[in-house]
Amino acid sequence: TKHVLGIKYLTAEDIRLIFETAESFKEVINRPIKKVPSLRDVTVANLFFENSTRTRISFELAEKRLSADVVNFSASSSSVKKGETLLDTVNNILAMKVDMVVMRHPAPGAHHFLAQHIDANIINAGDGTHEHPTQALLDAFSMQEQVGDLAGKRVVIFGDILHSRVALSNIYCLTKLGAKVRVCGPPTLIPKHIQSLGVEVSHDVWDSLKWCDIANVLRIQLERQDIKYFPSLREYSQYFGINKTLLDSLDKPIVIMHPGPINRGVEISSDVADSDHSIILQQVENGVAVRMAVLYLLAAGR
Ligand code: CP
Repeated sequence: TKHVLGIKYLTAEDIRLIFETAESFKEVINRPIKKVPSLRDVTVANLFFENSTRTRISFELAEKRLSADVVNFSASSSSVKKGETLLDTVNNILAMKVDMVVMRHPAPGAHHFLAQHIDANIINAGDGTHEHPTQALLDAFSMQEQVGDLAGKRVVIFGDILHSRVALSNIYCLTKLGAKVRVCGPPTLIPKHIQSLGVEVSHDVWDSLKWCDIANVLRIQLERQDIKYFPSLREYSQYFGINKTLLDSLDKPIVIMHPGPINRGVEISSDVADSDHSIILQQVENGVAVRMAVLYLLAAGR
């Protein structure tokens, strides 16, 4: 495959190859000398038209650990502010001999549009409410480290499913790997017909916690909602928040995950986010190895 536009377009075999490659890179980046020469002579542009902390830094580190030349572009400080189009922006950057583009963009499908017009490899680092494929890959890789083969394992994605690209990419990735997936949140934040993607729907947090091996907790994406979530964030926290009292009442440990950024005290309490059951920072650590694997495999196909 030339691009990574979404998990929708990857096979289970592609995903397993990415995980095997990521395992090797995880070993590499835990050595005192973290760098390998695999992407020497490859130039990567990280184009961020939306804010990011984890994904932007993780891609930049992954590229540098692979010895790529890296340029970073942030729309907020660019000529996009003077009205330059996406295609003009990207073509101007590619004219400087860039081989691969990592892009985050608020418009769902922006990467598909770009793929029809440019020759470079494209990796989707998040397109609006659509997909965030490398987040789903690092999530599933981290789950597999905790519970082994995901076939038959039960994963609940809690929270704002409607506005979340992480939810959609997780659903594609986990169902391709044979996991049983449930989404849980208020009816207003769950898309209609989501069952057609092979997931269960629940509005009952307690029942979903009892059902699952792994809870992937997502935040309320207020920035993507034209009408504010009703009822209030305080009520969301009361009825759908994951807190220690709930987890202590379970008769089994479950793995707690969150892609970040966390709204502490809303979808997850601090004592859960920071507990021994939480692998939130392991997810971030694995993000570098998984992104190295994606970059390496795409570059190898050039
Ligand atoms: N998980 C994630 O995409 O975080 P950032 O928005 O900080 O990149």
